[in-house]
Amino acid sequence: MSHDSLHIRVASARDALGIFNLIQEHHEDLIGRPLGDITENIDRFVVAVVDGELVGCAAYNILPEAGDPLKASLEIRSVAVKKEWRGRGVGKGLLDEVFRRTAGYGIRNAIVLTFAPDFFGGLGFREVPKTTIMHKIYMGCMNCTRQANPFTCPEVAMVKQLADVTPQ
Ligand SMILES: CC(C)(COP(=O)(O)OP(=O)(O)OC[C@H]1O[C@@H](n2cnc3c(N)ncnc32)[C@H](O)[C@@H]1OP(=O)(O)O)[C@@H](O)C(=O)NCCC(=O)NCCS
Repeated sequence: MSHDSLHIRVASARDALGIFNLIQEHHEDLIGRPLGDITENIDRFVVAVVDGELVGCAAYNILPEAGDPLKASLEIRSVAVKKEWRGRGVGKGLLDEVFRRTAGYGIRNAIVLTFAPDFFGGLGFREVPKTTIMHKIYMGCMNCTRQANPFTCPEVAMVKQLADVTPQ
């Protein structure tokens, strides 16, 4: 990466307020998350830090599919990089770290609903009809306060196949 002191690591409780502020700064692109939700799920965040300053974050959830654990998905959420740090591989580094940390969980696909399809397309995601990720629509979009109808919402649904590296 282009800066020696850029460090991508798991988040700690000390990062929670910085993550909250970063997500707030990107309210046009990201669904807001209360500080309590971020803290409760701090183990599902990775952060990018430069000289002690938080410059990016990404989070994941595992979304089950009813009746079949092998159809669970890795949902990518809350991906943001500060404007002055964009275009330097920070976003890609955050996603790579999420995939590295979750590689042994036996999850076969990653999904995202995003306003940045070109970024995710470059990382191996492809657009799919929203009807193919109904578990995400039910668990996420049902509580959305911005759009009444997830099928007319401009966010793009994308999927990436993951390598199966489940320990035998
Ligand atoms: C999307 C975002 C996280 C990308 O972060 P970034 O650090 O600039 O991305 P990277 O530098 O790692 O880019 C990786 C690749 O994606 C490309 N890319 C990044 N953002 C892109 C965009 N908006 N459109 C097209 N391509 C993009 C880069 O050119 C790069 O390609 P390369 O590897 O061929 O050079 C950042 O622009 C952002 O915070 N956007 C606002 C929040 C948002 O929309 N988040 C996604 C919602 S889930």
